[in-house]
Amino acid sequence: MARVFITRAVPGRAVEQLVAAGHAVETWPGDLPPPPADLAAALARSDAVMAMVVDRITPEMLTAAPRLRIVANMAVGYDNIDPAAAADLGVWVTNTPGVLAETTADLAFGLLLAAARRIVESDRDTRAGGWKTWSPTGFLGVDAFGATLGIVGLGEIGEAVARRARGFKMRILYHSRTRKPALEADLGLEYRPLPELLAESDFVSLHTPLTPETRHLIDAAALAAMKPGAILINTARGQVVDQDALVDALRAGQLGGAALDVTTPEPLPLGHPLYTFPNVIVTPHIGSASRATRARMAEMAAANILAVLAGREPPNPVNR
Ligand code: DGY
Repeated sequence: MARVFITRAVPGRAVEQLVAAGHAVETWPGDLPPPPADLAAALARSDAVMAMVVDRITPEMLTAAPRLRIVANMAVGYDNIDPAAAADLGVWVTNTPGVLAETTADLAFGLLLAAARRIVESDRDTRAGGWKTWSPTGFLGVDAFGATLGIVGLGEIGEAVARRARGFKMRILYHSRTRKPALEADLGLEYRPLPELLAESDFVSLHTPLTPETRHLIDAAALAAMKPGAILINTARGQVVDQDALVDALRAGQLGGAALDVTTPEPLPLGHPLYTFPNVIVTPHIGSASRATRARMAEMAAANILAVLAGREPPNPVNR
């Protein structure tokens, strides 16, 4: 019997599946992440851990966890752990690719529409008693239909966003590490170097993983290169954007708005300047948060754990 630690209660049948295989499952109680000392202690007594993107697992914690064989992230991203350091210690790191792209693309597109048409702002106004009459000039926004969308990072989520954009007859530009001629042809995408994509797009949607190369990819210079009045959507990672530069660009009225599902830090503290802009939407990192998708993610993480505990290679390794 192996000991499995799960850093939060998870939906779906994941726990049932681990228990049915004869493992002892310990779930961290409550909604907040285990503090670092508790996480380190749990790693040290466990054979397997199911972790969330906000559970920062340091090389020191891994070194002090002699039994640990796998950290199964319940996420496609894995910037909360150093996979190479884990591999050196013989610990698998796995993720959940393939199951959350459509759900995250739904949110990215929802944020795009919400920012374009000022949905959140007008709802706030309605609740505050601001709805006095139908107004020919009230809450004027911009059209998504027929606009130009710039997708930065054309992985599975970026591609899913592009498919949605086709339904809105958008002109779709993309920037990615590698060009994807098959997708260009299938979806009518046009490749652009980043500065050109920024200059031409009415909406810029970010879909890169967080790596040393993408940290602050959208910095002051990139924001200045954006078309005046353009809207920035980030469902990737907060640190892909230089947030102080974003605040400056919003203050200067350079951008039409921003819709952020990810920030630095998370949660974004109350009182942060980003909350002062009516044209900024902040959601609490809910890209993959549909019931069905979160259940699938947890079950996929459990499948990775079950494989490793049974002496097999996990199906979704990121540090083979
Ligand atoms: C991921 O999977 O990396 C998301 O950020 C959390 O759903």
